[in-house]
Amino acid sequence: MSAKLQITDSRTNKSYDVPITDGTVRAMDLRQIKTGPDDFGLMTYDPAFLNTASCRSAITFIDGDKGILRYRGYPIEQLAEHCDFLDVAYLLLFGELPSPEQSAEWRVKVTHHTMIHENLKKFMEGFRPDAHPMGMFVSTVAALSTFYPEARNVSSAAVRSLETLRLIGKVPTIAAYAYRHSLGLPYVYPNNNLTYPGNFLSMLWKMTEPQYEVNPVLARALDVLFILHADHEQNCGTNTMRAVGSAHTDPYLSVAAAAAALAGPLHGGANEEVLKMLDEIGTLSNVPAFVEKVKTGKCKLMGFGHRVYKNYDPRAKIIKQTADQVFAVTGVNPKLEIAMELERVALSDEYFIQRKLYPNVDFYSGIIYQAMGFAPEMFTVLFAIPRTVGWLAQWQELVQDPEQKIARPRQIYTGHDERPVQQEAATLTAVS
Ligand code: COA
Repeated sequence: MSAKLQITDSRTNKSYDVPITDGTVRAMDLRQIKTGPDDFGLMTYDPAFLNTASCRSAITFIDGDKGILRYRGYPIEQLAEHCDFLDVAYLLLFGELPSPEQSAEWRVKVTHHTMIHENLKKFMEGFRPDAHPMGMFVSTVAALSTFYPEARNVSSAAVRSLETLRLIGKVPTIAAYAYRHSLGLPYVYPNNNLTYPGNFLSMLWKMTEPQYEVNPVLARALDVLFILHADHEQNCGTNTMRAVGSAHTDPYLSVAAAAAALAGPLHGGANEEVLKMLDEIGTLSNVPAFVEKVKTGKCKLMGFGHRVYKNYDPRAKIIKQTADQVFAVTGVNPKLEIAMELERVALSDEYFIQRKLYPNVDFYSGIIYQAMGFAPEMFTVLFAIPRTVGWLAQWQELVQDPEQKIARPRQIYTGHDERPVQQEAATLTAVS
């Protein structure tokens, strides 16, 4: 017997059987519940989607209570230990890890698309020297749409596949150019003899030497950080990607919109905020006073708390291990000590225990990025590079899902009932 939810409407005393599938009821099944023929029917009210599934997805699994994260069934810990980012990107997009042949072919395809049009470079040169790199990233990815008008044909699998390759190939180049721009340094063209993270480091830091010497420890650390950030099911940015993509907007504009969502301090912008917070705290002795300030609601402990994780974010654990490897090369970031003390104090405090607030992915990532030489303004851009893969995987899934339509929530209208415009309040002046 299939499971059903029995509902009795106390307004009419009528009963309804609503099917339960995969632990959900369909909101549209509630529409039949009416008080009379003129009644629109019952809706659900769920601001910020606290308890609403908006899609079926086979990409990423999270169990927030247990602190579990898997891509296509593989635990994040194993992917971070045994795979590189491009293979994980393949996994997210195609559902399986690539064979050695598929992996080699995939790398060639992605590296084929790392260059950007010279006019796009000129477009980036137009930004102010102090422009925030995330604003540059969002705008430049959107501008790519004007270079590839065929990308509008989102129902073509061949077009989707080409634009996906272009985006994965080009986002590191755009990110690196944004960085060089902020330093007033000439842009460095991609070097396709290097690995994906190695080439990115070269585009960031190459000076006058003919060939940039990639530090393998830093390149691997960046690769692991890319793996950890690649997808995270229906977060704010991904939901934006799906909402914008549902209008059949091209993938460049959709990724730009998703990146704009990521830029917010409650989302991917949190890593930058963590560093500002650690600067504000300044010394170990100020930690208890800062935690008190958080508890009285004067500010938030940035890098703590998550909508889904009510346990330690598994990505934060891996980042802590990666930090040790990076610090062995760069020297320890003095902010690490403050962050660890902050974590210790918070995790033993009733306020954080009661609310199940644990460090999230952004708590330690900024400390590593800073040790590697990045200014805090670049942190969210470093998040956006790998997340582009997740956005594209989710977008491909959306476009091929026959159940999906243009995303369009309902509202509860709380404004005025109809009323006439009063003549004396009218401001329209006669035009001769
Ligand atoms: N510092 C202090 N208190 C926090 C907190 C934080 N970082 N995050 C949540 N809380 C508190 C809330 O004030 C609320 O307390 P209350 O019940 O007394 O009102 C409670 O914990 C539940 O939080 P809520 O805001 O309902 O959770 P949410 O799911 O809507 O928000 C975040 C999730 C991520 C937006 C939120 O935890 C946050 O702002 N964290 C800091 C920003 C951050 O690190 N973002 C990156 C996420 S990967």
